[in-house]
Amino acid sequence: MARKKIIAGNWKMNMTPSQAVELVNTLKPLVANDDVDVVFCVPAIDIIPAMEAAKGSNIHIGAENMYFEEKGAYTGEISPAMLVDAGVKYVIIGHSERREYFAETDETVNKKVLKAFEHSLTPIICCGETLTQREQGVTIDFVRQQIKIAFLNVTAQQAASAVIAYEPIWAIGTGKVATTAQAQEVCKAIRDCIAEIYDEATAAAIRIQYGGSVSASNASELFAQADIDGGLVGGASLKPDFGQIVNY
Ligand code: PGA
Repeated sequence: MARKKIIAGNWKMNMTPSQAVELVNTLKPLVANDDVDVVFCVPAIDIIPAMEAAKGSNIHIGAENMYFEEKGAYTGEISPAMLVDAGVKYVIIGHSERREYFAETDETVNKKVLKAFEHSLTPIICCGETLTQREQGVTIDFVRQQIKIAFLNVTAQQAASAVIAYEPIWAIGTGKVATTAQAQEVCKAIRDCIAEIYDEATAAAIRIQYGGSVSASNASELFAQADIDGGLVGGASLKPDFGQIVNY
């Protein structure tokens, strides 16, 4: 019952719809690897054209965010039903940039996670510490708190199917990757936390990614760690390098 690796690109606010189609077409042959789950999380407006371009390939198109209400007067938001109807299976929840620039909190992350499961979407739940927190030695306490709140009222069965992305904020987009030992230590602490909340079987099933300056040159070492089941990749997911990462 080895966990299947999951390698997801996070395009962030990059690529217009026509550029998205071009990028999917460029990367399609490079990421053709059925041994791992390959997900491209793209801006909402790119979902449908990217989905069209990815047809017949192993690429899953995911979303970068969604709202926790069903529908209604929430100008500018995207509902889970909209994602499902477009064919989306994965959605990033609580990325540190959403927390920093769009006021998302552990509580809104929890609401979104619950709503995603209600619609059978797989959340990629992000967590991770700041540089100050790491320097003050509170990384694991902080990440455990994020995880415990994110999983409030989530069932064991749901949790087993979730994906967690551990992304130290100081490593995102900085080229400063965590050492494999640092990444493994926190990913293991997250798995232990899941075992504490649920049980060993749930902890053994849940997939935990590392994110933060993952590149073609560091992917294989990171993904070889016992508790790292793949990666959430920003910058390098927009380049042919993503093919090398998927084929680490
Ligand atoms: P990065 O971004 O790979 O560019 O550091 C990772 C992320 O924010 O998910």
